[in-house]
Amino acid sequence: MHSREQRNVHQAPTTSPGRLITFEGIEGSGKSTQCRRIARWLRAQGYAVIETREPGGTPLAERIRSLLLKPLTKPPMDETLTPQCEVSLILAGRAQHVHHVIRPALAKGTMVLCDRFADSTLAYQGYGRNLDLMRLRELNRFVTDGIQPHLTFLFDIPVTIGLARRRSAAHQNRLDRESLAFYRRVRQGFLALAHEEPERIVVLNARHDPDALTQQLTRYLSRWLTTHTSFRPESMSLVDPPRLMNAGHTSD
Ligand SMILES: Nc1ncnc2c1ncn2[C@@H]1O[C@H](COP(=O)(O)OP(=O)(O)OP(=O)(O)O)[C@@H](O)[C@H]1O
Ligand SMILES: [Mg+2]
Repeated sequence: MHSREQRNVHQAPTTSPGRLITFEGIEGSGKSTQCRRIARWLRAQGYAVIETREPGGTPLAERIRSLLLKPLTKPPMDETLTPQCEVSLILAGRAQHVHHVIRPALAKGTMVLCDRFADSTLAYQGYGRNLDLMRLRELNRFVTDGIQPHLTFLFDIPVTIGLARRRSAAHQNRLDRESLAFYRRVRQGFLALAHEEPERIVVLNARHDPDALTQQLTRYLSRWLTTHTSFRPESMSLVDPPRLMNAGHTSD
């Protein structure tokens, strides 16, 4: 997900126009793991692919990411981010990302895999922080200039499991200090979004092991790509889409 990988664009075959595929879900749900694997799989199929992420994706937006994720605790002033400041920074980064990376890549016919995107803003700042959803949707449209994901994979997992995975894996950041109640609102928010747009947002049971998830994703994509791109790799077989979990039956 770093700039070196972003430049690693293979020669485009004929996937014109490109497709924006986003990976969403709470912390530790396995987005980054599957995003990397799916990028590799798509490249093996002959697609031109870039992997990118939010917040971030351009040098400036990556600086904004650091501002967002590093705790701002410099005594004597512990300057917490207001929800309004937080969302403004995220949206500023998204405007840069869409303009400089996503839109040009799509125009070249590239598959753009993005680890978090606009749905995270609705889930975290809307459902999680109670900012007005309609306003957030409008602001998303403003900064993306109307670009929306063609397909979104939502990795759904109970909050406690996701957070435990993260704790054992990564460095902590500012969002790790949030309450369980906050993450539960975010998770339910994501599921509500999937319920509204079942055609675009595919919900996966992220408790499955990584290999099983990759298999579900590649099977789903094999079918999806045949109806959503003009490129037909010879190796791609037509398979039935896997049975994915239904949204809204969660226990945590
Ligand atoms: N399906 C899985 N089952 C068990 N562990 C997993 C699974 N997928 C990923 N992991 C592990 O869980 C941790 C978090 O995974 P990953 O970084 O992919 O999640 P993420 O959704 O990108 O998290 P974040 O939002 O914090 O970036 C990593 O240590 C990863 O190896
Ligand atoms: Mg990640």
